[in-house]
Amino acid sequence: MSNYHIKHLEEYYQVYRKSVRDPEAFWEEIAEEHFVWRKKWDKVLSWDFKKPEVKWFEGARLNITENCLDRHLPTRGTKTAILFEPNDPSEEAQHITYRQLHEKVCRMANVLKDQGIGKGDRVCVYLPMIPELAITVLACARIGAIHSVVFAGFSSNALSTRINDSDCKLVVTSDGSYRGSKTIDLKGIVDSALKDCPGVKTVLVAKRIGSEVSMKSGRDLWLEPLVEDAYADCNAELMEAEDPLFILYTSGSTGKPKGMVHSCAGYMVYSAYTFKNIFQYKEDDIYWCTADIGWITGHSYIVYGPLANGATTVMFEGVPSYPDFGRFWEVVQKHKINQFYTAPTAIRALAKESLDFVEKYDLSSLKVLGSVGEPINEEAWHWYNNNIGKGKSPIVDTWWQTETGGIMISPIPYVTPTTPTYATLPFIGIQPALMDEEGKEIKGNQVDGRLCIKFPWPSMARTIWGDHDRYRDTYFSAYENKYFTGDGALRDAVGYYRITGRVDDVIIVSGHNLGTAPIEDSINEHPAVAESAIVGFPHDVKGNALYGFIILKETGESRDRDNLRKEVNQQITEQIGPIAKLDKIQFVPGLPKTRSGKIMRRILRKIAGKDAENLGDISTLLNPEVVKEIKDNAL
Ligand code: PRX
Repeated sequence: MSNYHIKHLEEYYQVYRKSVRDPEAFWEEIAEEHFVWRKKWDKVLSWDFKKPEVKWFEGARLNITENCLDRHLPTRGTKTAILFEPNDPSEEAQHITYRQLHEKVCRMANVLKDQGIGKGDRVCVYLPMIPELAITVLACARIGAIHSVVFAGFSSNALSTRINDSDCKLVVTSDGSYRGSKTIDLKGIVDSALKDCPGVKTVLVAKRIGSEVSMKSGRDLWLEPLVEDAYADCNAELMEAEDPLFILYTSGSTGKPKGMVHSCAGYMVYSAYTFKNIFQYKEDDIYWCTADIGWITGHSYIVYGPLANGATTVMFEGVPSYPDFGRFWEVVQKHKINQFYTAPTAIRALAKESLDFVEKYDLSSLKVLGSVGEPINEEAWHWYNNNIGKGKSPIVDTWWQTETGGIMISPIPYVTPTTPTYATLPFIGIQPALMDEEGKEIKGNQVDGRLCIKFPWPSMARTIWGDHDRYRDTYFSAYENKYFTGDGALRDAVGYYRITGRVDDVIIVSGHNLGTAPIEDSINEHPAVAESAIVGFPHDVKGNALYGFIILKETGESRDRDNLRKEVNQQITEQIGPIAKLDKIQFVPGLPKTRSGKIMRRILRKIAGKDAENLGDISTLLNPEVVKEIKDNAL
């Protein structure tokens, strides 16, 4: 038997060494023994980080949905695959078995086919966290269509940019969504997005909130009747290993979002293998990841990874604060959750509330706690450990990215001893390197540098949709022959990694990646604004919040500042989404710039973070005089 399930630290080291010594033999064994293939590969791996080009399991044929659904039917047909917990706790939870999920996915796949969707077509999925979201994703995979899920908190503008970037022909959405005590008019957002998307021919609309929506004839169709009429079986399309499975957008340092492309075979193998080990999933466990499927965490660790292992995966429609701050723990008790995976921002928000919200509930089913999306600070780690895990459930602080497809650095619970704030050791097959600014690898321990990965792993993104040059420039040009993550990290005396944060112009707010450029572009479109710069500053719940420095045009000078602040945030909400709103806005006479005209964000970051005592040498700036002015009026 291959090393599919690691149970001891010795075993981890032994398997890790094996995976690094002969990666091809290692991954071949995992792939061979734990997945179903219609045809095996001719070659396990070929790669060249210069081009860059990476291919895993070339020549193999498969369909990921046969691995996530069909193969479980004989043994797990009546087991719950998806456990849907609605926004409103008084609405009944739904247990969708593997057999039912298989049927629903097949029906949906046939609906898509009837609408002319086939292999390689792009389908945009803009749905709330309801079962239709997972079903649509899997239905696309069933017929080889490439899904592009857009988080349903993004604005119409962000949605249309993403639809057009990958030429989606069809959009799946719902009439609206529930979010705590509010409803959101998703269909309205889609309608306004589609004004700019001539390529979209069809919109399928699931009914969720029962609101009145306008249906454009010839374009919009209610989903339910189509699903009911569809045939309940659908052959899985045969996919090549390297065929794209999905596109998922992530923010970059420049304005345009990057459509990361993940391919079928490698992604399947790695998401499944990491899921099994990092959550130590056992057959009857109930696993809950609170992320939204609109992010990579939901793709890999709500849908594909769990289902490939025949797990029961919870889909939660609600928010942690509704109907009160005890909701997460109420759900843990109700469904006897064994593995619970969430983001530090949620932990920090809940830690501010009374412990009564936790203590009311029986959390004894919990065995593993996970954290993802941003560094977890020491205080939040201890709160999570003491109050939720009761000191008994290991916390897996999992570091990874949209681009990596799966978890890269993380403890394995009950295997790797944990240390607060450390993601600890590289997962099997992952070869990290810390680099200095000159491009040299920093060897040894007790060092810090820029985090790179030296060797391909199966689930790495293969390209940026439509822009391979940008893929190379962003990830493979900073350091020769290495994938550059954009993060800084330190390696301590025992070789544990701690992620210290982004070293580029991406800011992580409440676990969401936000590029400064698109936000600045949006602000600069305001008629009163001449120029702007965004930086992050520490925030006790969000991790980072956004601070905007804005230069007004002369015409804007007479305007009321508070009104302007509201308008700027309104503009950001419309163009990107509420997650990108600024917490602080300071109007400034100028921005500190280098002689070549580059904004010195380092200085602005220090001012925003109330750490402006030692700004270093600013005499080389083009306009050192603005620094004092900005500092004196900082918020
Ligand atoms: O900076 C790192 C941070 O989130 C970035 C990736 O964001 P995204 O592509 O949206 O994926 C988030 C979910 C996988 C990383 O470059 N990050 C993610 N996990 C951690 C983290 N920072 C510190 N510790 C983590 N566990």
